[in-house]
Amino acid sequence: MAIDGSRAAPPTDPPDFGTREFPAALVNVTNRCNLKCTHCFVYRDANPNASVDKMNDATMLHQLEVLRDRHGIKSMLFMGGEPMVRHRLVLAAMSLFEDPSIVTNGTYGIPSVPGCLVTVSLDGPPEENDAIRGQGVFDRVEQAIRGRDRGDGTIVMLQMAITKENSPGIERFVDVVADWPVDGVACTFYVPRKGERSDLAWDTNQERDEVVERVMALKEAYPDLVRANVATLRLMKSDQCGDHIDDRCALKAMLPLYVGDGGVFERTFCCYGNDVDCNRCGAYAVFNAARHRRQGSTPGPTTPLRD
Ligand SMILES: C[S@@+](CC[C@H](N)C(=O)[O-])C[C@H]1O[C@@H](n2cnc3c(N)ncnc32)[C@H](O)[C@@H]1O
Ligand code: SF4
Ligand code: SF4
Repeated sequence: MAIDGSRAAPPTDPPDFGTREFPAALVNVTNRCNLKCTHCFVYRDANPNASVDKMNDATMLHQLEVLRDRHGIKSMLFMGGEPMVRHRLVLAAMSLFEDPSIVTNGTYGIPSVPGCLVTVSLDGPPEENDAIRGQGVFDRVEQAIRGRDRGDGTIVMLQMAITKENSPGIERFVDVVADWPVDGVACTFYVPRKGERSDLAWDTNQERDEVVERVMALKEAYPDLVRANVATLRLMKSDQCGDHIDDRCALKAMLPLYVGDGGVFERTFCCYGNDVDCNRCGAYAVFNAARHRRQGSTPGPTTPLRD
């Protein structure tokens, strides 16, 4: 009931995204973020990112529930912007799904969600991370991770998005976080814009191969900590990666929900938005899902621990 005694309008239904089943989806619960990371795909011009929190909590909860039932969504990845900006909404919406998970920048603390995966992003050792994520961010995230109750049942993983620019720091990063109370360290590689030539993107996948091999070596050196699968990493090498991208991308089975004009859900080309260069896609989840597809298993792109 509103203050004037009138009843609030019932929440509207989501747009029609067809009838296809999507076992997994992601939702940008807000376009707001307290950081301005240099590599972030969310704020690219071609993406729906201008409308800020125009969809209220009740409408978002209702629409997520309708979409869950329409498309058979089981896994839901809560993303943003920074999802913890709307943490009450995220915690309420998680209960709608069988397999909810969160990816966060960690600066608002680490949410306690027993049994669920929380991926915390850091992009290198302190200096390199802060050059990307902002001054003091590495220390804040470390404090949040060390300060949390490790026995609460939340699965916490760190994730480094590896670009050409921060790639020299991957070994030092793993070294620095090796004694942190986390369940693993994951990595994913940069997804560039179409035609992008920048310090972040490798011009060719051949140039990226050397870094993929270094991640394989890290997996060998830290088999329990580094949550990457060597067979998946092999599929990322330049002689094979072309077989698993674009039309054949297994991540296209995931429904990406961005909030567009007027606070209405929009489906983008893929999870990484509308302006992406599939030919140089470095999304680990693409190749991990491809490996599972080959093996006849079904991981779901947000499978905890990513093996
Ligand atoms: C877009 S952020 C949103 C959630 C939260 N704000 C965070 O930083 O974790 C989700 C993840 O995407 C990664 N990411 C951002 N831009 C990327 C890009 N162009 N290629 C690959 N990963 C990227 C981030 O590093 C982060 O791990
Ligand atoms: S914290 Fe996340 S959403 Fe915010 S700018 Fe960085 S990568 Fe993008
Ligand atoms: S950019 Fe990557 S995740 Fe997106 S459709 Fe292309 S191959 Fe798939």
